[in-house]
Amino acid sequence: MSVKFTWYGHAALGLDIGNNHILVDPFLTHNPAASTTANALQCQYILLSHGHGDHLGDTIAIAKRTSATVITNFELAEWLGKKGVNAHGQHLGGGHQWPFGYVKLTLALHGSALPDGSYGGNPSGFLITTPDAHKIYLACDTGLFGDMRLIGEEGVDLAVLPIGDNFTMGPSDALRAVKLIQPKHVIPVHYDTFGLIKQDAAAWASKVRAETTAQPHVLKPGESFTL
Ligand code: NI
Ligand code: MN
Repeated sequence: MSVKFTWYGHAALGLDIGNNHILVDPFLTHNPAASTTANALQCQYILLSHGHGDHLGDTIAIAKRTSATVITNFELAEWLGKKGVNAHGQHLGGGHQWPFGYVKLTLALHGSALPDGSYGGNPSGFLITTPDAHKIYLACDTGLFGDMRLIGEEGVDLAVLPIGDNFTMGPSDALRAVKLIQPKHVIPVHYDTFGLIKQDAAAWASKVRAETTAQPHVLKPGESFTL
């Protein structure tokens, strides 16, 4: 069962795992880097890492149009449920078996307030174990933390890390994260969307190649990587 990863710009991602289409943090409308539109995407599941607008994005509209299930923390699931969205709450450290894999919510050092000021619970990342045992770690919005080493101990095939700085890890901490996680492949996200998080991803990838055993893949919005 192949895993196809697509970057839609900023932190909006697509994962095709077998016949399952999964979107992650689908912020497309008002995303200056978006490679597609909310209406063009199909999915059965949406993973939502936290409540900030550049991640919540088009979640509600896409979930209603496609009847997708939103997998997120308990508080965001409750909030989405009140808006008529089919949402499933998990929480940090908790895993659940889905048709596309076992999804565990991981620690993220960040905030999660919703655009309307509601409490959005704790932000998270996701560790996905596919039916044929591929491990994908989506760090989502976070600073560097030492327990990334524990996530790496599970044997990560693909890590997706923010490198934009200011709101999340910057390039040097993201390089340290690669050293803690030791993934086979790593893809940088959450940069270049706007001026404040502009980064030289190619230079970062060179350092990853020189200092770690991970293979970096720098994508342009709209491009895919197949594991
Ligand atoms: Ni955020
Ligand atoms: Mn963000």
